[in-house]
Amino acid sequence: MDNYYDKLKETADYIRQRIHRTPYIAIVLGSGLGNLANYMSNTIEIPYEEIPNFPRTTVVGHDGRLIFGELGGRYIVAMKGRFHYYEGWNMEEVVFPIRLFKILGVNNLFLTNAAGGINTQFRPGDLMLIKDHIGFFAENPLRGANIDELGPRFPDMSHVYDRELLEMAAECSMRLRSDIRRGIYAYTKGPSFETPSEIRALKYFGADAVGMSTVPEAITARHMGMKVLGISCITNMAAGVLEKTLNHEEVIEAGKKVERKFAALVTEIVKSWP
Ligand code: HPA
Repeated sequence: MDNYYDKLKETADYIRQRIHRTPYIAIVLGSGLGNLANYMSNTIEIPYEEIPNFPRTTVVGHDGRLIFGELGGRYIVAMKGRFHYYEGWNMEEVVFPIRLFKILGVNNLFLTNAAGGINTQFRPGDLMLIKDHIGFFAENPLRGANIDELGPRFPDMSHVYDRELLEMAAECSMRLRSDIRRGIYAYTKGPSFETPSEIRALKYFGADAVGMSTVPEAITARHMGMKVLGISCITNMAAGVLEKTLNHEEVIEAGKKVERKFAALVTEIVKSWP
């Protein structure tokens, strides 16, 4: 574990040599939402292969990179391509970049994802501010010896998603005259989509949307005291909600359709971030 912390510091030293400013916010881009980078300026892109100790991608066609640059007048870092547990990474690898951001001095984390809608009022294309999450099915990323330099053994999770940021994001959406939902995000490990019975169970637990990411990253960020905001793009209705089967292409397509609306909202949020 000490070794893991040393690796984080070594990676941070490498990044500091390539960028000369500390980003104010780190944004993790969800499936189909990676094009946000096109809206950034003065960018420095670092492919994951060039970053020491970064999880090595073996999946063909995986285009992972950190993009440092300006958005909405602020210097940020966007993570294009996240590490999902279902790809075979262990949790330490999944959350490595989040810990790296904190060590670089970034205290604000903006998580985005694609999610299936469980709440029947939702429609594909809706954006949902994450009020809280249900992570029963995620292996906890903090399992194992605690890294005391990063945070406490038993961190509180009463307010994972910052209330002030959530209200700020809702106001941004109003200024843009677009609708925004609020809801509870449930994590499932994937990569198979859920069964209709699993979705009914999650609905009973209070979930409004379901997805295969975000929760490990949010827990890790809160462990280190970062402020977290999360937005889900509802790309499809979850299994059994409609008489329809699910596929990944639909998720990617739906993400692309909301690209502009999403980029406009993200830019407004970055500008207004306190
Ligand atoms: N389930 C899980 N993850 C997802 C879904 C879904 O329906 N849609 C997008 N990501």
